[in-house]
Amino acid sequence: MRAARSILVALVTVAASPAGVSADDVISFRRHVWPILKRHCYGCHSGEKPEGKLSLATAASIRSGGDTGPLLVPGKPGRSLLIQMISGEEPSMPPKGRPLSRAKIDVLKRWILQGGKIDSVAPVAEPKVVIPVEYTHAPAMTAVAFSPDGQRIACACRSEVVVVTTSGTGIPLRLPTRSDLLTHVEFSADGKMLLAAGGTPSRFGEVCVFSVADGKRVLARRVSGDTLFRGGFAPDGKRVALGGADGAVYVIPLDEKSAVRRIELHSDWVVDVAWTPDGKKLITAGRDKATKVASVQTGKLLRTVDSSPERVSSVVTDGVFAVSAGKSRALIGYQLDVALQNISVTGAGNGAKPITRRNQYAKNFEGQPGEVIDIAISGNRKAIAVAGAASEVRVYTVADRKRTATVKNVRVPVYCVALNRNASLLAVGSRDGYLEVFRLPKAERTLSRIPVPMKKTVGSR
Ligand code: HEC
Repeated sequence: MRAARSILVALVTVAASPAGVSADDVISFRRHVWPILKRHCYGCHSGEKPEGKLSLATAASIRSGGDTGPLLVPGKPGRSLLIQMISGEEPSMPPKGRPLSRAKIDVLKRWILQGGKIDSVAPVAEPKVVIPVEYTHAPAMTAVAFSPDGQRIACACRSEVVVVTTSGTGIPLRLPTRSDLLTHVEFSADGKMLLAAGGTPSRFGEVCVFSVADGKRVLARRVSGDTLFRGGFAPDGKRVALGGADGAVYVIPLDEKSAVRRIELHSDWVVDVAWTPDGKKLITAGRDKATKVASVQTGKLLRTVDSSPERVSSVVTDGVFAVSAGKSRALIGYQLDVALQNISVTGAGNGAKPITRRNQYAKNFEGQPGEVIDIAISGNRKAIAVAGAASEVRVYTVADRKRTATVKNVRVPVYCVALNRNASLLAVGSRDGYLEVFRLPKAERTLSRIPVPMKKTVGSR
């Protein structure tokens, strides 16, 4: 997921600080309070469906508060909901990440003590997502997926999903989102819906679902205050699990209301999540270099199956093995039943001490020629394709770890790969914005195109 990573790093905004407020200053809402709310709260408490029905978008909506009522009792910080929610040992807000600093809480308290006036709210422009009619530079392709029948391919091209036919005929379907960067696309098992996830750094994560037949967006749900990474549909098709920039996995029901679950597992970005086919476990890969297995039911970590010397980028599973890889070029399969021996999946057994050793369940594939950025698993979960910095994509059988195909001379770096149901087709998306399709195992190239419309280049300047 280096694509997202490098773009994200460049985009992450610098935190506004409440510095320079001295003890006896008059607190100005606009100058002192607003920057804090905007930085730490606005992402979830704004937009069409603000969390807790609390919108911080206008002075009036701040005054009226959310579900529970007014945010503040003027002159009485201790009795104000706003302060109650952000203070204490484990403050309720923000619900994840670091609590507000003492200095910031102090600013909010003093503002309320001084009457809690709202002089004005600087309107926060939604970070503009510009989707050009025609591009001058092709956007990097950050995710790619086959429809279950193999006839179509969805490509994540920065803020939009472009659906093309595998044969290359017809006019691509363009599905715009409001995310600055999409990190994941996937068709539902029946091929009727298309999931696109991503977000805008430091603002929001977003999950969109489109109806493939007419391109209509049927769901757009904002989750967390930061971009979401890769993951996938639960086997029941009703939820998705996606990695978060805050070390949590987000399990998001595909409706507007049901509660989102956060499963805290990693100390850094969770860059990929895979469901076991029975829907009971999640395998996760983190920028903290770990590959982990967690129980969906309890949300508990079952086992950290490995710690890589380098960051891990991608993970897939067929239910028997989990396979992960990343910068270290080692592609490793983890036999789940052995790795999880003596660990109860349903119990709350925090004290359960696994006795299995890594060398009993970790099985190495051959070494990879370059950093691995993405691994794709076929629809029947028998084959995987492994790609990244090197100019070849390799295809393996999961069960015996044997290489079955090698696709050479692909455009590098590859940011994303996909296999169709029986691994007879491979789609490769690259940083330079190309989609290439190969027929396997012979590796004949059947398509090579930039899926977004490009400006016709004019000969003279
Ligand atoms: C990651 C998203 C997120 C962020 C960031 C966030 N909140 Fe919330 N907030 C929620 C959700 C979800 C709820 C509703 C559920 C709950 O009460 O826990 C909520 C509810 C609230 C409520 C109660 C609303 C009501 O009337 O019931 C208050 C007050 C609140 N948040 C304040 C804040 C403040 C202040 C910040 C910034 C310091 C903040 N929140 C940041 C997600 C968020």
